[in-house]
Amino acid sequence: MSDQSSSAAHHNGKLYIETVGCQMNMLDSELVVAALRKDGFELTDDPKLADTLLFNTCSVRENAEHKIYSSLGRLKYVKRTKPQKVIGVMGCMAQKDQDLIFKRAPHVDLVVGTGQLAEIPRLIRETRATTSRQQQKAVSLGRRDGSVAAVSSSFQSYDPLRDPEMRPTPFQAFVRIMIGCDKFCTYCVVPTTRGPEQSRPPSQILSEVKVLADQGVKEVCLLGQTVNSYKHTENGRLNRLSDLMYGINEIAGIERIRFVTSYPKDMTDDLLHAVRDLSKAVKYLHVPLQHGCNEQLRLMKRGYTVDDYREMMHRINDIVPGCSVSSDFIVGFCGETEEAHQLSMAAIREFRFKNSFIFKYSEREGTKAATMLPDDIPEETKKRRNNEVLAVQNEVSEEDNAEFIGRQVSVLVEGPSKAAEKKAARGEEVVAGDPLATQLMGRSECDRIVVFDGNPRLAGSTARVEIRDCTGTTLIGSIVTREVQHGSNGLLPIVS
Ligand code: 5AD
Ligand code: SF4
Repeated sequence: MSDQSSSAAHHNGKLYIETVGCQMNMLDSELVVAALRKDGFELTDDPKLADTLLFNTCSVRENAEHKIYSSLGRLKYVKRTKPQKVIGVMGCMAQKDQDLIFKRAPHVDLVVGTGQLAEIPRLIRETRATTSRQQQKAVSLGRRDGSVAAVSSSFQSYDPLRDPEMRPTPFQAFVRIMIGCDKFCTYCVVPTTRGPEQSRPPSQILSEVKVLADQGVKEVCLLGQTVNSYKHTENGRLNRLSDLMYGINEIAGIERIRFVTSYPKDMTDDLLHAVRDLSKAVKYLHVPLQHGCNEQLRLMKRGYTVDDYREMMHRINDIVPGCSVSSDFIVGFCGETEEAHQLSMAAIREFRFKNSFIFKYSEREGTKAATMLPDDIPEETKKRRNNEVLAVQNEVSEEDNAEFIGRQVSVLVEGPSKAAEKKAARGEEVVAGDPLATQLMGRSECDRIVVFDGNPRLAGSTARVEIRDCTGTTLIGSIVTREVQHGSNGLLPIVS
């Protein structure tokens, strides 16, 4: 691909991007936007003003796809009156639906899968150059469309040099350490949309983190669908996630290392030792259990029983005392009985997750569950079970958060809280009597959200906060002292 990027002088008009889905998608959008800005595009958050509109999509559940198809539907008329606009669909839905997108939304110009994101600048350029507006598609091979090597190489990890201006906050960054998934849980579309599991070379990851640290990043979040399955042999040496963490821990400027999402069966002791021993490792693990019933876990083909998970939890608690653990749950999966549903709630009470993401089962075409198992739980029942599981989790979260009252925690300050931003947008004073203060938010060392009043310039620094109240999701406190004052770099307060 030729790079016309360096001449920042030329203009390519305004770019609007809408992103749904997981952190992997957020990172993909960040990198695509960075590449397009280099190519002379200017970002806008108003779709009406945009010359190019991109939709970074998710296929994990049906409602995420509906959302995108409705957004696309709204553009049909716009495109009729302004045919020069470029409309592109990228990411998981692009890989999964391919030509179906052109069929359902004929005004779409580009369909670009998760493995072809590097092509986007060229594809936009080419689309614009054609007067007849030929639709363009760039996608990877299907999982059965070739040898493992051929399919793998059709999914390219997209990790160009980082652009400091394009991160959600200047001191936090996602770093992809692997792509794809080979676990094939029966409900899940990810092995199709993101392709075979492939780990990036450690040397590449370490130099990326060094670049990020030089740019002022303090916290890196390592990303992978099953991040603790990471393995890569370089110069004859096998590198696991723990080895990577030791390497990153040495990088000056980096203060916190997190990683998501872990797979229960791959939670090895070497990784837990790294989380315990490394000063920069955040004491937090996201290890989805998905269900509390063995029969459901078997039908999901998760590869472990509740007992196996319990054994893992004991190891986590023994090796890293105080480590918080969060989970995902699916309710209303095929054949879920009322007893099975109760077992998920019992598991939350037993394992005391910090928080859980709870999802109603959504049948996905092309998955094993869709072909082999009936989606037989009524929507109403799924909704009720979702609410019930959520209520139990909230209870546990609130009880455990209450344990923090009276204690001090170390918080990496992210910026004004969402509530403070809303108030400020309405022109209201956030902290009564102090025009310089606002409500700030950040995270503790065990990943709990903490809010407290302070100067927005604290964003990016670590503060000691005494907790005096809580809800199920948030610790509420007052600043004690600022532990570390980092150079302000002239940066503005951060939007969290
Ligand atoms: N239906 C509902 N939830 C799903 N997830 C993955 N696939 C599905 C599906 N088909 C959930 C899992 C996973 C999270 C990211 O999304 O809980 O951990
Ligand atoms: Fe999907 Fe299972 Fe892979 Fe997670 S481990 S991405 S749920 S197939």
